[in-house]
Parts: sequence; structure tokens; C-alpha cells
Amino acid sequence: MTHDFARVRGRSTSRLRGVVLTVAAGAVAIGAAITFSGTADAATTLGASAAASGRYFGTAVAAYKLSDATYLGILSREFTMVTPENEMKWDATEPSQNTFSYANADRIVAQAVSQGARVRGHALAWHQQQPGWAQSLSGTALRSAMLNHVTQVATHYRGQIYAWDVVNEAFADGGSGARRDSNLQQTGNDWIEAAFRAARAADPAAKLCYNDYNTDGQNAKSNAVYAMVQDFKTRGVPIDCVGFQSHFNSASPVPSDYQANLQRFAALGVEVQITELDIEGSGTAQADSYTRVTQACLNVAQCAGITVWGIRDTDSWRASGTPLLFDGSGNKKAAYTSTLNTLNGAGTSVPPTTTPPVTTPPTTPPVTTPPPSGGACSAALSANAWTGGFVITVKVTAGASAVSTWSVALTLPSGSALTNAWNAQATGSSGAVQFANVSYNGRIAAGGSTEFGFQGTGTPPTAVSGCTASLA
Ligand code: XIL
Repeated sequence: MTHDFARVRGRSTSRLRGVVLTVAAGAVAIGAAITFSGTADAATTLGASAAASGRYFGTAVAAYKLSDATYLGILSREFTMVTPENEMKWDATEPSQNTFSYANADRIVAQAVSQGARVRGHALAWHQQQPGWAQSLSGTALRSAMLNHVTQVATHYRGQIYAWDVVNEAFADGGSGARRDSNLQQTGNDWIEAAFRAARAADPAAKLCYNDYNTDGQNAKSNAVYAMVQDFKTRGVPIDCVGFQSHFNSASPVPSDYQANLQRFAALGVEVQITELDIEGSGTAQADSYTRVTQACLNVAQCAGITVWGIRDTDSWRASGTPLLFDGSGNKKAAYTSTLNTLNGAGTSVPPTTTPPVTTPPTTPPVTTPPPSGGACSAALSANAWTGGFVITVKVTAGASAVSTWSVALTLPSGSALTNAWNAQATGSSGAVQFANVSYNGRIAAGGSTEFGFQGTGTPPTAVSGCTASLA
């Protein structure tokens, strides 16, 4: 019975294919100018091409751009997954404690539904883009507020989200393999699993992801995430997927072991997703990098899909690096064509990466400012920079005595500006700026350390000019 059914289906499929070919041949005969490239059944949009292998192709979307006809046209034509770029973040969805604001995120979800796309939720718990009220909480009050936030937002969107970035960017850059020191981390090392459990309870159907950057190859940071995922799987903490942001440029290119890294996470029993892809550059070099990333996903069975972080270069958070698939006018770039061809299995032959595991050093090694001898504190800075912007992490270390307050001074290069800071109170936004501790991280034990960070436009500072502290 089953066998007959299969045969009938097989026959009718091949008959259909015959009809299509007949029509196509007719079209060629009538319009001699028509040419075919690629295989006869190659899909012509990113979404359809990805779907041929059961994958999605997504983009980040900004609610305020939905009224732009060019933007909306490309969005609805090409993409089968949508991530709100900012609209589901904590500051956007809970501007005052326990008052929730979903209008902009709801508009994006409605657009996704209307075009038959799915939604990646981004991001429930993160040290950045927290509302001011949360930034000023600590300890149990912050832990409860965070869990309430996860529960409320995941409940609001229950059943509508393919995958949630439950926790974003919780590990430190560089070689330490440590957690990033943040107000959330300071509520206790188990904050990540608590967030995942709350998300599972609120929306059991959503896949729950851990998402991060600088984890795209094998290095100390991705090793630490790997160990966490392995531990969660062993202990039954709910986790279904790992997101690899994949923000690349010449200083931080696609790692040679990109595919191997995706594969080793997949082997832990999680789905892997490329969540925020953008690659600075232009022309063939950029197109080839997109091919490599796309091919790596296709080569890993558990790679569910690729999301690019915006549609046109001008929509990008780092627009000056022209990192996306469409130019500012909405025209397809070479990178679009190479991505599409790769999805269709007709890409230019960039071989799958089979490089054995290697340890990749951090892309921007920390610049250490030696402590003034006998100083109460010292500060070291590490930068994640791209064309036109940067994120800086500063590690503040106490000297031989415990300190109760601290302040770090540095000078931003001319033309650079501070846009936001976390885990510190900033004074000034250009030239000489200062960062003072906030309520929960002023106290540092003798020899201990804490971290704060900030984001800016322009070129990054390369050193701190001083650290001062009062002894505890
Ligand atoms: C970025 C947005 O694109 C910008 O509009 C916003 O100003 C800052 O955040 N990692 C993430 C994303 O997880 O949420 C960030 O998005 C880019 C880095």
C-alpha cells in the first residue's frame, strides 16, 4: 500500500515536472532573448532558495522603516524570517517597571505574519539596552525584575516566536573564558539558566537560544559557551539553539574554522543559527565571504537558517562598512548574487571548510595600561571595532587593598563620540570622558576586578588615561 502510494506520487511529480519543462521550452522558442542561468528550477529569492533545503533566510527589521516602500518590497519578497532589530529589547518593551509596551514589536510581528515569515525574538535578557530603572537595580530585585520581564514578554508572544534569544552576549571577550561582568551576572552565576527556565515555562513551543558574537570560530569565548551548553544539556536546563551573530570585517574576518565551530555545537544536540550576519566590504571579496558563511550553514544539517542584520547597506547599524546584500537604493549587490547562488547549490566553488580545530586569538588583543605603582586601581581596555564604531570593555582591577568606589578616565579620539555605557555612569561624550562605578559594582575586593563597557561612533580609544579609587 505504502509502496503503491509512493509510486503514484513519484509518477505524478515527474509528470508535473514534464509539464513545466514543456512550457519553459515553449517560452524559449517564442522569446529568443530569454536565457537561463543556474539550474532550471533554481529559486529566485533568498527565502525560496533557503527553503529548498528546509532552511529560512531572515533579516533584522526596524518598525519605523515599514512605511518605506522600497524596504517593505524587498522585505516581503526575499525574507522568510524576521528579527525585530530593537523593538523587543528590554528598554523598548518595559520602559517602566511592569508597564509593557509592545506596539512597535507587534507591528513587526504582524508584517511577518502577513508575508508568511516567522519571527526570531531578540532579546529577553542582555546587559545592553536595559531601561534605566533596571540598570539601577541589583541583587534579588534585579533578578526578580529580569525573570518577570522574561515571563511577561515571552507570554505576550506565546506561540508566535520561532526562536527566542533568551540571553544575549553573557560571556567576556578575550582569553579568560569568563562570564561578562554585568549587573545580571552579579545576581548570581545561575541567572542564565533561570532565564531559560522562565522562558520555557512562558512559551513551551519557542526554541530557546543563547546568542553571542566573537564565538564564530573556536576560541576561548566560544569554548566557554560550548561548556555552558554542554552543562545545560547534561543537567536538563532547557536550551534548543545557539545563535552566532557573525558580524565580520577585515579585522574580524570569517574564521577558517567557522563551519567546524557550528558543527561542534550542533553535535551537542542544539540547533545552530546564524543570527546577525553582516560582512563589511564590497565586490568579490565581500561576495566570497557571504558564500563561505552560506555554504557553512548548508554543510551543517542542524544549521536552521541565516539572518542578515538589515536589508540595505543604509539600514545597517554600521552603514559605513556597506556590510549587507542590497545597496542604499535597494539594488542587489554581488554579495546577494553569491548568497543566492550558494543557496541554490550553484555557487562559485568555494570549498567547504575542513580546517582542523584551531584556537583563534581574540581579534583585538587587550591593551593593558600598567597600574601606577602603589595605585588603588588599574584599568585595561579591549576594543571590538568596526568602520565607524566600536564597543569597548574596560576591566577595573583593585590594587593591594579593597576599594569602595572607582573612576576611570580616558580620552576619545577627535571625531569620536560616546553613545551609551553599561555598568558605569559616564560623564562627557567626546574628548576627555570619565566613568564612575554604579551602585552595585563600586566595591572591588583586593586584587579583584569588575568590568564596564560603552559603545561609540568613530574610532576607538586605545588606552585609559587613569584609574582612581577610594579605599574601602
Ligand atoms: C544593534 C542595533 O542594530 C542598533 O540599531 C542599536 O543601536 C544597537 O543594537 N548585537 C546584538 C544586536 O545582539 O541587538 C545589536 O543591534 C548589534 C550587536
